[in-house]
Amino acid sequence: MISFQLHIYATLIIYSILQAFALDSYIAAVYEYSVILPNVTGDPVSSDDALALMNKNMDILERAIKEAAHQGAHIIVMPEDGIYGWDFKRDTIFPYLEDIPDPQMNWIPCTDPERFAPAAVQERLSCMARNNSIYVVANIGDKKPCNSSDPMCPSDGHYQYNTNVVFNSKGKLVARYHKYNLFMSETQFDHPKEPEIVTFNTPFGKFGIFTCFDILFHDPAVTLISKLHVDTVLFPTAWMNVLPHLTAIEFHSAWAMGMGVNFLAANIHNTGMNMTGSGIYAPDGPRAYHYDMKTENSHLLLAKLSPHPRLSPTYPVAVNWSSYATSVKRFSPDDHDFSGVIFFDDFTFTELIKPEGNRTVCQKDLCCHLSYRMAEKREDEVYVLGAFDGLHVVEGEYYLQICTLLKCKSTDLKTCGQPVDTAQTRFETFSLSGTFGTRYIFPEVLLSEVQLAPGEFQILSDGRLISQNGTSKPVLTVTLFGRWYEKDPPQPQ
Ligand SMILES: *[C@@H]1O[C@H](CO)[C@@H](O)[C@H](O)[C@H]1NC(C)=O
Ligand SMILES: *[C@@H]1O[C@H](CO)[C@@H](O)[C@H](O)[C@H]1NC(C)=O
Ligand SMILES: *[C@@H]1O[C@H](CO)[C@@H](O)[C@H](O)[C@H]1NC(C)=O
Ligand SMILES: *[C@@H]1O[C@H](CO)[C@@H](O)[C@H](O)[C@H]1NC(C)=O
Ligand SMILES: *[C@@H]1O[C@H](CO)[C@@H](O)[C@H](O)[C@H]1NC(C)=O
Ligand SMILES: *[C@@H]1O[C@H](CO)[C@@H](O)[C@H](O)[C@H]1NC(C)=O
Repeated sequence: MISFQLHIYATLIIYSILQAFALDSYIAAVYEYSVILPNVTGDPVSSDDALALMNKNMDILERAIKEAAHQGAHIIVMPEDGIYGWDFKRDTIFPYLEDIPDPQMNWIPCTDPERFAPAAVQERLSCMARNNSIYVVANIGDKKPCNSSDPMCPSDGHYQYNTNVVFNSKGKLVARYHKYNLFMSETQFDHPKEPEIVTFNTPFGKFGIFTCFDILFHDPAVTLISKLHVDTVLFPTAWMNVLPHLTAIEFHSAWAMGMGVNFLAANIHNTGMNMTGSGIYAPDGPRAYHYDMKTENSHLLLAKLSPHPRLSPTYPVAVNWSSYATSVKRFSPDDHDFSGVIFFDDFTFTELIKPEGNRTVCQKDLCCHLSYRMAEKREDEVYVLGAFDGLHVVEGEYYLQICTLLKCKSTDLKTCGQPVDTAQTRFETFSLSGTFGTRYIFPEVLLSEVQLAPGEFQILSDGRLISQNGTSKPVLTVTLFGRWYEKDPPQPQ
């Protein structure tokens, strides 16, 4: 009884302390940079050579961490593969891996480096966090020995995981996440048997974490929001941009909006691989973002965020994504529909011939409606409205429902859906909606030269994506990108 009361009392004190330290806002940082890549060799390097390369990259990270801390950042996120690069096989990644303990071990590598040694990378990351009083989020490799008592144990006697680690501002390891949805080329890594749902609490909200390709799938990404109600997602990535719908800044900002969370995305900078695009995104729009295909420069982004966006007055209203679209009849007949391909998917398109109008295009169960007015209908640019309802099967299998307005690459209708990054047509208004069967819709607006449109469009509670005053630059695409997770094949494949 007494201990029970004491427990309540202690809990109340701890709660009061947490309240006292809770912040009204916090400063997030993400760092996009050109990782120094290892030389591609057939054979594994020594662990000393591996550490030497990782230290070169950590020298770069350290400067960014100091700068971010100097500018008041509470947390900084580094990209996936940011410490050792890529192009590995199972045996050539091995010298770069460390055994990363469970965060429940309460370990501060900076002050107690021998406890789980050898762990030079974890020690240095922990010291960078501790010395600069900032949370550090990085992506490194974990190895876990196993043996024949485990039928899944790989023949080389250990599991190898693509792993995110988080050190708090005292240098303590507070989170470890093993990437679940590995991209096709990541054969050097194993995926964990079950998706790991990793969260941790801070004075500036509850955090969840996952990596790159994970964002396309239900677990753990959606579960972190729908069941664990995290405030901010940490997202190290090595994202190769694919226009028109899967460019980093476009899709990640749309995911933050569609899921109603803060989202901190740090991408690698490597223009040869089409990798650029990092951002600090809030549910109502981007706070800061960076996209640069012209230089090889690194870039540090900082922005202020609400620790609990759901409590913020600007938190978006709940949306029924099909409400408007199912309440109206077809705007236009299908007599001029044609088909075309976007990133290996067969869309149904209809051309926007007039400078303004109301158009509908359907595929299977999905009908997409568009009302629009262009500033002028140019002779040298063609826009289409497109619909796709089906399973995407290239570079991963996932079910999509997409309504999209986009600029074709040329005036030849056969080029509709191919990547194009500039446009000249301005839209004075648009309103896009669809009869979606899923409630997971990510709204994308991408402007000429691959720029976002913060504050220039809105999502209505009846599911319309609208712009009443047009956008500041010509439009590349306006898209409702839907994921229908229940129709996916079992993951991971
Ligand atoms: C790659 O090889 C070159 C030439 O041998 C060498 O100068 C360079 O330092 C190596 N890079 C790394 C990351 O080891
Ligand atoms: C952290 O600070 C200690 C003591 O000043 C110093 O020895 C160490 O090199 C620093 N490490 C990092 C990674 O900043
Ligand atoms: C290897 O197997 C033995 C029993 O067969 C077990 O006790 C031990 O923990 C295993 N080691 C690892 C690293 O899994
Ligand atoms: C980068 O994107 C361009 C156009 O979007 C494409 O032609 C090229 O193949 C891509 N490069 C890589 C390495 O994927
Ligand atoms: C969304 O709106 C449609 C049409 O008004 C309605 O049939 C459907 O039940 C609504 N969905 C939800 C989840 O409220
Ligand atoms: C499109 O529909 C709206 C609403 O029904 C109507 O006011 C408008 O005149 C239509 N525009 C055109 C060009 O048909």
